[in-house]
Amino acid sequence: CLVLLPAASLLQLMDVRQVCCEFLQSQLHPTNCLGIRAFADVHTCTQLLDQSHAYAEQHFTEVVQGEEFLGLSLQQVCSLISSDKLTVSTEEKVFEAMISWIKHDKPARLEYMPKLMEHVRLPLLSRDYLVQIVEEEALIKNNNTCKDFLIEAMKYHLLPADQRHLIKTDRTRPRTPISIPKVMIVVGGQAPKAIRSVECYDFQEDRWYQVADLPSRRCRAGVVSMAGRVYAVGGFNSSLRERTVDVYDGVRDQWSAVASMQERRSTLGAAVLGTHTYIHSYTHTKGLYSFEAYNYKTNEWMYVASMNTRRSSVGVGVVDGKLYAVGGYDGASRQCLSTVEEYDPVADQWCYVADMSTRRSGAGVGVLKGQLYAAGGHDGPLVRKSVEVYDPQTNTWRLVCDMNMCRRNAGICAINGLLYVIGGDDGSCNLSSVEFYNPATDKWSLIPTNMSNGRSYAGVAVIDKPL
Ligand SMILES: *[C@@H]1O[C@H](CO)[C@@H](O)[C@H](O)[C@H]1NC(C)=O
Ligand SMILES: *[C@@H]1O[C@H](CO)[C@@H](O)[C@H](O)[C@H]1NC(C)=O
Ligand SMILES: *[C@@H]1O[C@H](CO)[C@@H](O)[C@H](O)[C@H]1NC(C)=O
Ligand SMILES: *[C@@H]1O[C@H](CO)[C@@H](O)[C@H](O)[C@H]1NC(C)=O
Repeated sequence: CLVLLPAASLLQLMDVRQVCCEFLQSQLHPTNCLGIRAFADVHTCTQLLDQSHAYAEQHFTEVVQGEEFLGLSLQQVCSLISSDKLTVSTEEKVFEAMISWIKHDKPARLEYMPKLMEHVRLPLLSRDYLVQIVEEEALIKNNNTCKDFLIEAMKYHLLPADQRHLIKTDRTRPRTPISIPKVMIVVGGQAPKAIRSVECYDFQEDRWYQVADLPSRRCRAGVVSMAGRVYAVGGFNSSLRERTVDVYDGVRDQWSAVASMQERRSTLGAAVLGTHTYIHSYTHTKGLYSFEAYNYKTNEWMYVASMNTRRSSVGVGVVDGKLYAVGGYDGASRQCLSTVEEYDPVADQWCYVADMSTRRSGAGVGVLKGQLYAAGGHDGPLVRKSVEVYDPQTNTWRLVCDMNMCRRNAGICAINGLLYVIGGDDGSCNLSSVEFYNPATDKWSLIPTNMSNGRSYAGVAVIDKPL
């Protein structure tokens, strides 16, 4: 099409041109949307231009990881990062994108720094981030114009909250992204043997649909979504523990492999902290309770500090840059655990925090509004329906409403202010039902439509709904 389209315009073959634009639109991906946008611009395909531009704004966090972004002109970067519609979890992403664009060709681009800083909404960064990162960034320290932007941001933070509106610049206006609908993806699991099947739930349409199968059978994997892709890490294929890692691209509906872990690991905990995925599991081969981290930028695994307690079937979650490992099973003492440990990635250290009220192995652990939930799990044959929640600010656990069903080894994810618990088993059956918790009403409700399969030990993540 890229070759055909210029010819089509020339010959006024509007149909061919239309088909090409539609084709390119269907191919939009974080790795190519900027190129398609430039192409649409050159060939005045207005609709495609709008679509690819909106796509780049909506997938900003993933787009800036790619080569295309680093190759943009100054004017193109400014046009992207000045947009009110940019979808970013925090303004940090914009700041970091700008720094990486400059560092890509520092001698030539350094002088553009003040021009770019004009569009980074520094006042919207957290005070800690401003102090730690922005102040240490040599690129800013060395230029007075850049420093002025930093001072503006500091001033903003020094004002009482009700007076901040008095500072009126483009940089204090919060971004207002157009939200992209999300779907929940449920990967593999045991039903009762490990399966390859992957299904997605569309929240708006209350509908389950199958997507591309895993390349091989997998249950008990760690599943996380990072930079727009879904990673299925380790697990069990019904005969062997896995070292391998498969990655799902929702736009292309396909799985591919990335670097394997150092150890075979199953029934593990996985969570994303910054640019790393942290994987924790007890590795039976060495009798160790080791911990690995994956850097998706370098596609490398490395060991990090081990926990104080061996835990298999551990649930993990991240709150405020700290990772929590909740309960699990200690094979040495043959006990399900109520203890909880906190990992600080900066110090590379673990410490105990408050225990749960009860022992839980195979609990669903998820994070909603800065609070860590532990749902269900079991203590020996006793499968639980109780749920408790940890507040890192006060270091305390409190019980909330019970789930409708007893569940262990269920999947869990948070979206739209609700916490979803998916499948699992109740001690005799693998469940196809899904329920969600609303913290505003302290209530669990079943979603109207069950999965096609009863699954326990499936992994769950949230991804953008494909176009
Ligand atoms: C800061 O950068 C601007 C724009 O490149 C330049 O005009 C100015 O001289 C620089 N100031 C300092 C102190 O380096
Ligand atoms: C459910 O899965 C478990 C493994 O989690 C398996 O042992 C069991 O046979 C399955 N039960 C049913 C009823 O399929
Ligand atoms: C599990 O993986 C091993 C090694 O790749 C393979 O030999 C075996 O056939 C697989 N088992 C199943 C049930 O797929
Ligand atoms: C979903 O599964 C639960 C049992 O896990 C069952 O009670 C319920 O009737 C099912 N719902 C539908 C709509 O099939």
